[in-house]
Amino acid sequence: MILVIGGAGYIGSHVVKVLLKTKEVIVLDNLSTGHRWAVDERAVFVNGDLGNVEDLKALFSSYSIDAVMHFAASSLVGESVVNPMKYYLNNVSSTLTLLNTMLDFNIDKFIFSSTAATYGIPTTDLITEDTPTNPINPYGQSKLMVEKILADLSKAVDMKYVVLRYFNAAGAHQTGEIGEAHNPETHLIPIILQHLLGQREQISVFGSDYETEDGTCIRDYIHVTDLANAHILALDALINGSKNTATYNLGNGLGYSVKEVIEMCEKVTGKKANVVTGDRRLGDPAKLVTSSDKIHNELGWNTEYSLFEIINTAWEWEKSRVDNLDLINN
Ligand code: UFG
Repeated sequence: MILVIGGAGYIGSHVVKVLLKTKEVIVLDNLSTGHRWAVDERAVFVNGDLGNVEDLKALFSSYSIDAVMHFAASSLVGESVVNPMKYYLNNVSSTLTLLNTMLDFNIDKFIFSSTAATYGIPTTDLITEDTPTNPINPYGQSKLMVEKILADLSKAVDMKYVVLRYFNAAGAHQTGEIGEAHNPETHLIPIILQHLLGQREQISVFGSDYETEDGTCIRDYIHVTDLANAHILALDALINGSKNTATYNLGNGLGYSVKEVIEMCEKVTGKKANVVTGDRRLGDPAKLVTSSDKIHNELGWNTEYSLFEIINTAWEWEKSRVDNLDLINN
């Protein structure tokens, strides 16, 4: 059985759906930001906290867990700058509790959700796993700390792991059952689409004086189902023993500026956006774009969704939520 911590959240809930094709799945989530409705009903659901040893012990004693996937984290760059303690408690301290309890129960396979934010302001145009890490915000710092802890553990004790550094996850499940539902929403694509649906008055572009072609930040947007598929390959590599430790970047290899994303949303929806330019947001690097050659070459991962398709699935999802206010508010 595979334990998915944070399986009620945006990325975790999509991974659960892919995992269920071949595995039994148990989800642990405290529903602080995740949603009970997002958890596929074929998975076992436990409402609990990964920072609570008793919750973990109860779970590890009751179920035979082969591997743990860990998605439960605070993940907002801007928030981490103003509230770093929340990030070190939720992302580092709780993860240590989890890893320590896993060792007590001889659970030795771990997939860790890390982030492009570990690179800080990258020294190259196209980031690879060899690009030096140098986070410029507490969120990236907190994830890198756990990566370093995992590296030390794996040398000393029985702990095999894959670190997956996500670039900008976006889009929704093809079936329209689940998608991005943060409260409050801070991410670019849902904010643009909610504006185009009439739920927000305007879109504010956070900074137009970056050293990029059009002055706005460039990011590498990756469909959440493409991300989910990478987790399955990583898990298989740990289970079949072809990898004991590995770190992979997950992106499309293509950078789009904030302005280009807005234009693509206008194209997908056929609607015109009202855009204003605001100040830079704290902790934002100008450009984050990755090569995903390493995971392609080693595990055979390919991406299927273009930016157009990412936005198209997100648009279908946002439109469906208009008809279901419960999903918007819970
Ligand atoms: N942006 C705007 N206006 C908005 C919202 C966002 O201009 O209303 C800009 C941001 O400043 C940034 C870009 O759009 O330049 C993307 O912002 P998001 O908030 O959608 O995503 P981030 O790049 O800040 O962060 C996301 C995840 C992080 C992860 C990072 C990796 O939230 O967890 O991608 O690149 F680390």
